Amino acid sequence: MAASAADRLLSWYDRHGRKLPWRAPPGVRPDPYAVWLSEIMLQQTTVAAVGPYFHRFIERWPNVEALAGAADEEVMRQWAGLGYYSRARNLIACARQAAAAGGFPQTEEGLRELPGVGPYTAAAIAAIAFGRRAVVVDGNVERVVARFFAVETPLPAAKPEIRARTNELTPDARAGDFAQAMMDLGATICTPKRPACALCPLSDDCLARKTGAADTFPRRAPKPKRPLRRGAAFVAIRADGAILLRTRPPKGLLGGMTEFPGSSWSPAFDAAEIERAAPLPLRWRMMTGEVTHVFTHFELRLQVLVGEAEADRAAPPGARWTPASALHAEALPSVMRKVAELAGLDATRRK
Ligand code: ADE
Repeated sequence: MAASAADRLLSWYDRHGRKLPWRAPPGVRPDPYAVWLSEIMLQQTTVAAVGPYFHRFIERWPNVEALAGAADEEVMRQWAGLGYYSRARNLIACARQAAAAGGFPQTEEGLRELPGVGPYTAAAIAAIAFGRRAVVVDGNVERVVARFFAVETPLPAAKPEIRARTNELTPDARAGDFAQAMMDLGATICTPKRPACALCPLSDDCLARKTGAADTFPRRAPKPKRPLRRGAAFVAIRADGAILLRTRPPKGLLGGMTEFPGSSWSPAFDAAEIERAAPLPLRWRMMTGEVTHVFTHFELRLQVLVGEAEADRAAPPGARWTPASALHAEALPSVMRKVAELAGLDATRRK
């Protein structure tokens, strides 16, 4: 079954494979330099975006010796816009290494020694440029294989299983065409959403299709939940209307921004700590409800306490009184605007 799936996929590729500038016609070995250049450019960049850059590079530097002799700045200039500039630096270093060696190594192991060539890229070049049997797994291949075998293990834990399954499917001959056929199938038919199963050359044997929900593969582990931190914020209001504020340390979360004085934020925060965190000894009233705010790495819940101070009360060290009318001009992050709101203050800009 596996062999015939590869055959059907290759026939499909011969008729429907994408005609991309770095590809030779099916069955013909392409230029290793063009394959290597395209694979480096395609790391983290789409096929559509790479096209014009690929043409420009090939026109200007038609072989690896030409690129090896180019000035670094000129290559960087031509690369500008593709992003991830370490790839361009590696590209230059790799071209020089390959040119000095008289060409690209033909094996995965040899290719992996080159700057900027990781396991995926080495497998892709070995298969596509040199016809070696190599197991090539990129994101598209991962999705096709997870569906074909209805792999229930969620990603990323499923990677070794998907790799082993790809190995089972990979034929000895035309491994490069097979790899590119899998990529094309993933990009055009076996798409993340609404796959076009009716057009797919593998659909008869596809186990995910039999479940009737091909688009639910690959399974993915749920994102880890953000940990919860708790704390308290104190809004002191002086009789003359001034509000007690402080500035956060310059480095770290919300660095240099303004906040209401408060406790530290921690998973283990408990109500008994609230009293001790107060910036001034006032009669604090706890507001009903709490402020919740989602940061990248944690969710925060803050109790808000409000206290009134006499007009001549001095600010404690590290804090300052600010007229309520100037609150809108302070660098109050969203979480602190929510605190102001729960405390009944208006921190919005007045026209
Ligand atoms: N993405 C990475 N390499 C590719 C290739 N050779 N063809 C299409 N998409 C790709």
